[in-house]
Amino acid sequence: MSETSSIIALVTGGAGFIGSHLVDRLLASGARVRVLDDFSTGSRANLAHHADDANLRILEGDILNPEAVRDAVEGCSHVFHLACRNVRLSLTHPTIVHEVNATGTLNLLKESAGAGVARFLYCSSSEVNGTADLVPMPELYHYAPETIYGASKLTGEYYTDVFQRAGWLSTVIARPHNNYGPREHYAGNCGEVIPRFILQALCGEPLTLYGDGAQTRDFTYVTETVDYLVRLALHGQATGAYNVCRGEEVTIKTIADTILALTRSSSEIRRLEGRPSDVLRLFGDPARLRGLLGSSPSISIADGLQRTVDWFRAHVAPTPELMASLTAKSWVGGQSEPWLEQHLARRNAAAKDLS
Ligand SMILES: NC(=O)c1ccc[n+]([C@@H]2O[C@H](COP(=O)([O-])OP(=O)(O)OC[C@H]3O[C@@H](n4cnc5c(N)ncnc54)[C@H](O)[C@@H]3O)[C@@H](O)[C@H]2O)c1
Repeated sequence: MSETSSIIALVTGGAGFIGSHLVDRLLASGARVRVLDDFSTGSRANLAHHADDANLRILEGDILNPEAVRDAVEGCSHVFHLACRNVRLSLTHPTIVHEVNATGTLNLLKESAGAGVARFLYCSSSEVNGTADLVPMPELYHYAPETIYGASKLTGEYYTDVFQRAGWLSTVIARPHNNYGPREHYAGNCGEVIPRFILQALCGEPLTLYGDGAQTRDFTYVTETVDYLVRLALHGQATGAYNVCRGEEVTIKTIADTILALTRSSSEIRRLEGRPSDVLRLFGDPARLRGLLGSSPSISIADGLQRTVDWFRAHVAPTPELMASLTAKSWVGGQSEPWLEQHLARRNAAAKDLS
């Protein structure tokens, strides 16, 4: 019998990129799994390979709806809370990002405590830190998030800790750094750098790099991340926050060069204006995770990127429409919230007056 065969797990955001890999991991080790997802950015296609598995139940619902959350947690032993709205949306629509990431997390914590859930794992993000000025960053860092996304994820951490300290719920916080691998988003404002580069390289199109490419991230292959999420949730002594990362910084330019080499592509690298509020340096220390579990993520960038290239080559058709959409600034599109439109208009007018 495996370590998870007796658990009933709720995975919020289980139709998303990381969530769907977590569902794979839990089902493979015998758990019964429920997914609560509103499919705003996730998709049923990410879970289609489990269509005949009686151990998976998919519930369509919004974590902002307390009744949907109450029904979802009922009878669960473990909750893995991953549902969220993303960083680029927070640049134009911070209110919904705050609501889902902060208030939604409070909803999950309250209903889990009420339902007698045994363990609650909150999936946070390295974006709570902001640009690193001390590396590698330990968990107890002087948080300076640069986006409402990062601040809302930090709020979720604080709420999760309060539930632990108050004795209302047994909780642990995983703080993954940047993830990549199969099913990663490539389109629209969810589109991430690695799949965009891979598709552009495979099509012989320029790799569009925002900024100078010197920004660094601590990239982790997604199947490793979800393995550590499960191990943290199952470890009774794990409490507080744990970085889930490799402890190695890689520049975005290195990622572009590695992808060009792996795909044998002769695409050029095209530098574009940097993204607003882009964190310039992120690099975590996984020592706390290693101290608890005896290991930390270790799949190399070259190995993980090769697996990711193979998956995208086999699964994603680079239609002309898709490729054209990748050159756009993914964080721009449509109207921002009214106050932000007003602020930008006033700032632009002032800049014109000065010139
Ligand atoms: N992708 C990364 O590199 C990364 C890095 C660090 C942390 N994280 C964290 O991992 C988690 C998963 O991220 P991801 O990259 O898989 O994102 P994702 O967008 O693929 O997944 C989020 C899921 O949440 C669902 N969702 C959004 N709003 C919802 C709502 N109101 N009710 C119910 N479901 C809702 C979406 O439909 C989606 O399936 C998030 O908590 C994120 O903060 C991700």
